[in-house]
Amino acid sequence: MLSLSPINRPLKGDLFVPGDKSISHRSVMISSLAQGSSQITGFLEGADCLSTIACFRQMGVQIEKSSRPVNGVPTITVHGVGLHGLREPYGTLYTGNSGTTTRLMAGILSAQPFNSTITGDSSIVKRPMERVMKPLNSMGASIESVRGTGTCPLRIEGGKSLHGINWRNEVASAQTKSAILLAGLYAHGDTVVHEPAFSRNHTEIMLRAFGADIHNDVTRYGPAAAVLHPGMPLFGRSINVPGDISSAAYFIAAGLMVPDSEILIRNVGINPTRAGILAVLNQMGANITLLNENNEVEPKADILVKSSSLHGAPNKTFEISDKLIPTMIDEIPIFAVLAATADCKTIINNISELRVKESDRVSGIIENLSAMGADCYEENGALIINGGKPLHGANIKCYDDHRMAMTFAIASLIAEGTTTIDNEECVNISYPTFFNDLRSL
Ligand code: S3P
Repeated sequence: MLSLSPINRPLKGDLFVPGDKSISHRSVMISSLAQGSSQITGFLEGADCLSTIACFRQMGVQIEKSSRPVNGVPTITVHGVGLHGLREPYGTLYTGNSGTTTRLMAGILSAQPFNSTITGDSSIVKRPMERVMKPLNSMGASIESVRGTGTCPLRIEGGKSLHGINWRNEVASAQTKSAILLAGLYAHGDTVVHEPAFSRNHTEIMLRAFGADIHNDVTRYGPAAAVLHPGMPLFGRSINVPGDISSAAYFIAAGLMVPDSEILIRNVGINPTRAGILAVLNQMGANITLLNENNEVEPKADILVKSSSLHGAPNKTFEISDKLIPTMIDEIPIFAVLAATADCKTIINNISELRVKESDRVSGIIENLSAMGADCYEENGALIINGGKPLHGANIKCYDDHRMAMTFAIASLIAEGTTTIDNEECVNISYPTFFNDLRSL
């Protein structure tokens, strides 16, 4: 349990946040399937990405952290085994708390010649897996939920011959899309995944950088699609993982809310399919400037944040459209805290996906923000926050969810009195140095 007090001085300074979690997972998976070795810098050594490394090692991929960093930067080297070089794992593949490891790996495993079983921790075994089982089984895979509940453990029968698919995702989900695309690498014929809005496209960008024939498209079915023509080999290369915008979001929020603050967050990924939080905050009057923008493989920039008071439109209501939600899905908890401080009513539409994250984040946000004195509730599938009520300390229950712990640690900075967080160690999932970085500011 951690006790936090409000801060009575500005936050000043600059920092690097750890590498992007989504890109780190993909860097290990795609490098493992490539021919030759890949050098990854900026890799996030959080528990989730270490689960991905452990699973691929279990399938015979040699992955080392260089004891002598290359050019002073710690580097992970993955000795790729090629698309057909994975070995049968010697036991169940354990994915810990990581939905990305579980779902993306299901795509890869469904095309292997060997049988496998995947499972994870008490959160993973509750999360829905039909969303990957259904499309993968329609491609010719054989995946079943061992308990018949549509959740982990998943048993995957090997030796299946997959065919390409034209799949329409009801919700924008990068994990589902990526599982299908990774399976599509092994399929006969093209694979197309349509989505109601673009989910993060790191899989498409990285596969293309490794040599795959893949692109994003706008289609007659809807606004977004990924199109893969299989058959191209993947070749190892160097990968530079930018800082995670989802981690940066906590310091962006802190910088905006704590008076007279100025924080520079360096080298953050600003891929438009991830940077919805910046667009939304910009519309709410946040003083955020992008510096040193660079578009090498993934777009990145330094983010300069200065304290700002946030507001709605002239009618004082601020509404986030369905289309933007996937581009800021992991930032909704911290955005809800910002909305609670804003001089307006905020409506966050279409929040159903938040119920099936590492915890039920809709309940967690409402429970904890209300405990701090905010006026927030759910109505017709939207989260409504009537901003402007002062926050006070509370006993936060984070349900072992890293994003809830970091969100309410930041909220405590501006809450009167003491805030406690019940299991602050869960930040290790995506940001092991979070509390040190917060102290450094
Ligand atoms: C992720 C996609 C998102 C996100 C998760 C990471 C990824 O999940 O919430 O933290 O790396 O592909 P969904 O695809 O379920 O929306």
